[in-house]
Amino acid sequence: MEFLKLIQKRRACHHFIPEMSIDDKDLIKIIEIAAMSPSGYNAQPWEFVIIREKNNISKAAEIAFNQAHVADASALIIVLGDMNIGRNVDTILEDWVKLGYCTKEEVPVYRNSIAKVRSPEKRKQMALRNSMLACMTLIFAAENMGYATCPIMGFSQWQMEEFIKMPKDRCLALLVAIGYEDKGKELQRLPRKSIEEMIYWEHF
Ligand SMILES: Cc1cc2nc3c(=O)[nH]c(=O)nc-3n(C[C@H](O)[C@H](O)[C@H](O)COP(=O)(O)O)c2cc1C
Repeated sequence: MEFLKLIQKRRACHHFIPEMSIDDKDLIKIIEIAAMSPSGYNAQPWEFVIIREKNNISKAAEIAFNQAHVADASALIIVLGDMNIGRNVDTILEDWVKLGYCTKEEVPVYRNSIAKVRSPEKRKQMALRNSMLACMTLIFAAENMGYATCPIMGFSQWQMEEFIKMPKDRCLALLVAIGYEDKGKELQRLPRKSIEEMIYWEHF
């Protein structure tokens, strides 16, 4: 679909047709496209927990404060950020050297830059920044394939983390509900801020 049309068409879907399923192949395709997102150092610190079994969707919906559209979604994708940005430092640097992004001699400097010790806040910030970009790509990928989505942050963070057995060195970026839109039920799109409210030229 043409880019602008896709942007205009995407809505946060609040009415999915319940009892519909999404093929695993489509879910994997959506993730493949999301993985084309940019990331610092090309570290790709995103991971995805895909929930598509009905009883698990229902449990996740309870944790999401019983939001009905979460329960009616065909799948839930929970996007995680890996707070250990340097986990794949060897692979990252191998690719850099192989493809001419740096020389072998420069590797130690970049290794230090990628894998150096950072505060927990900084590590979480890096993980979330990168993973949220993947979330947006994921949402548009799903939309482009004819699915509707809703980004969801309304849930008990600790309960969701426990439910998906999230390791301590990951952080939860976003839950994306995916399904088939029950067409015609969506309200008109909420307005956006004016350009004047958003833009500061040169400085704030
Ligand atoms: C980070 C984030 C969290 C959100 N959490 C929820 C949520 O918990 N439940 C929900 O129904 N919608 C949620 N939304 C959807 C927003 O309400 C929706 O995107 C916004 O109202 C604009 O509507 P539109 O996406 O249709 O243009 C969330 C969106 C974002 C980006």
